[in-house]
Amino acid sequence: MPAPPVPSPPSELLTARVRDPYPYFAWLRRHAPAHVDRRNGRPAVWQVSRYRDVRALLTDGRLSKDPGRVPGYVPGPTGLNRHLVHADPPDHTRLRALVNAAFVPRRIARLEPFLTETAHRLLDRVEHHAHVDVIADFAGPLTFRMICAILGVPTDLDTPATRDTLMATIAPTPGLVPARVEEHLHTLLDILIARKRSGDEPGAVDLLGALVRAGDETGAMSEEELRSTAYLLLLVGHDTTMNLIGNGMLALLGHPGQAARLTAPDAGPNLVATAVEELLRYDSPVRDATFRCAAEPITLHGQRIEEGDIVSLLIGSANRDDTRFPDADLLDLGRTPNDHLAFGYGPHFCIGAALARLEGTVALPLLLHRLGPVRLAKPADELAWRPARVMRGLAALPVVRT
Ligand code: HEM
Repeated sequence: MPAPPVPSPPSELLTARVRDPYPYFAWLRRHAPAHVDRRNGRPAVWQVSRYRDVRALLTDGRLSKDPGRVPGYVPGPTGLNRHLVHADPPDHTRLRALVNAAFVPRRIARLEPFLTETAHRLLDRVEHHAHVDVIADFAGPLTFRMICAILGVPTDLDTPATRDTLMATIAPTPGLVPARVEEHLHTLLDILIARKRSGDEPGAVDLLGALVRAGDETGAMSEEELRSTAYLLLLVGHDTTMNLIGNGMLALLGHPGQAARLTAPDAGPNLVATAVEELLRYDSPVRDATFRCAAEPITLHGQRIEEGDIVSLLIGSANRDDTRFPDADLLDLGRTPNDHLAFGYGPHFCIGAALARLEGTVALPLLLHRLGPVRLAKPADELAWRPARVMRGLAALPVVRT
């Protein structure tokens, strides 16, 4: 039977989708739950938008994480692709086991005093400022400090330049030339790994030191995997949680009644916990799941996904699906149950979920309390979003004290 005709999304929804993807996602869920883009000469890219399909495909063994299976695949410019996000078993199982121990909830909980102190210190610096950029002044440096502490990155390498280099590898950054970014990144990894080999500044958790030793002493990890994993963890350990704080704060500024629930004297830990889950659902920091391609043909909504086609699972859309979440476009900080897919699902479920939750539950209430009454410094539709492929995050979140 021929595949049913596929409608095209209205151009105004496509144009607006970096700033506001939700009308586009709603259109996809309704009219084209398996939407394909077949641009000439490129592999077909499918977008899957309904909760049920996204969740099922996150655990479907017919989808591979190995980009090498896409015909004509060319590795990204950094060449740092040999990490667990781009691996299937048995490599995925081996690589995941090597990093997982550092992120278990019990170990992460011990970082709470350091996190709280770092957050206070950053907010002390802007205490008397009328204008604050929540991203540059708070969410960026806080979340990078945390992942650096876990990896054991020496403090002199925890700088805005290091952060800019990492972020520029996934979204074009004004003033940074891509070839220079790659050069900086590789120099950074050379220095970092050499210093770990020399036993420099182990830090409290020193995950990177442990990975270097695992590779050197038992061959559990190749040098290429070590470099790729260090890059991956530095990047996702920072970008994602920065987006949680940025997107979360923006949502709260747009819903003062909900923000007041969080700052109320009787707001207990239960409300803070459900609030963070709801903010993760409402404007998910990882908008699309990471790379997947069909390892064999898959039929979805009457259409045939061919082997080698790329399949994009739209987490941000699944989390706004009314068939799963009543009034899905409504922000309700007390929402339960809330089985969102913001951290993915199945074998690639986020390793950093406990860390992200800790950062969200500590940072967001603290930010609201310490900033006091604030408003956006410009209209919400003029805010700049970073044009990253998978992530959803603001380039800046300027607020003014009122
Ligand atoms: C709010 C913050 C975060 C969100 C929303 C988030 C989201 C996700 C999602 C959706 C996935 C699954 C991707 C897929 O299946 O394609 C994932 C995987 C992953 N996350 Fe996170 N993440 C967050 C924070 C972190 C942090 C702080 C780390 C720390 C290093 C981290 C490390 C990872 C790693 C290593 C994976 C790959 C796991 C695997 O492939 O087995 N994430 N994350």
